[in-house]
Amino acid sequence: MKALIISMNIAVFASGRGSNLMAILKAIEEGRLKARVVVVISNNSSSGALEIARSKGIDALHISRSQFSSDREYVDKILSELRKRNVELVVLAGYMKKIPAEVVSEYRNRILNIHPALLPSFGGQGMYGINVHKAVIESGVKITGVTVHIVDEEYDHGPIVLQKAVEVKDDDTPETLAERVLKVEHEVYPEAIRLFVEGKVNVFGRKVIIKNEN
Ligand code: GRF
Repeated sequence: MKALIISMNIAVFASGRGSNLMAILKAIEEGRLKARVVVVISNNSSSGALEIARSKGIDALHISRSQFSSDREYVDKILSELRKRNVELVVLAGYMKKIPAEVVSEYRNRILNIHPALLPSFGGQGMYGINVHKAVIESGVKITGVTVHIVDEEYDHGPIVLQKAVEVKDDDTPETLAERVLKVEHEVYPEAIRLFVEGKVNVFGRKVIIKNEN
């Protein structure tokens, strides 16, 4: 019997250094994830993520609203780049811009984001990067973590796919906590994408059920 080959064309959107992009590419190279990153899109022309993509021979596009004279042209550009590469899943990996509603709508339940805390706490506008870890420490919670969720029209709001807890230690600074959380992000994101690629992620309204893997 022929082995069932599952693969998926993925677009990664990233604004910063791109360590999550790197973790995803590593999982693909090691055969843990049957997917192809067919394009990396960034609003930031000097992002590490675009450099990583170029170094691996992956299409690297700088697309920013300021390059266009209308929202329509901007959205059309994003959608046409995704459509022409048959992108089936969009992965946000440290993407600092809101995904336009038309893109969310065309890719409904097919856009993932990773957030460095346990949503619905410590999310929403302004809660990104080190701000998240500062807020976590100031609040006094003992546990934080990583959330992978589906993107909808609101920041950090869509259905939750996977979460993993990380302990907040008494002597943590935002920086030491960020470092520990990031390591967990690098494990959890490729795993969440794998579940998605293998068709194990089922979305029922706000609830996501992961199909039994056995
Ligand atoms: C990560 O902490 C991610 O959770 C957040 O942005 C950061 C991106 O880091 N959304 P990197 O660019 O993947 O290194």
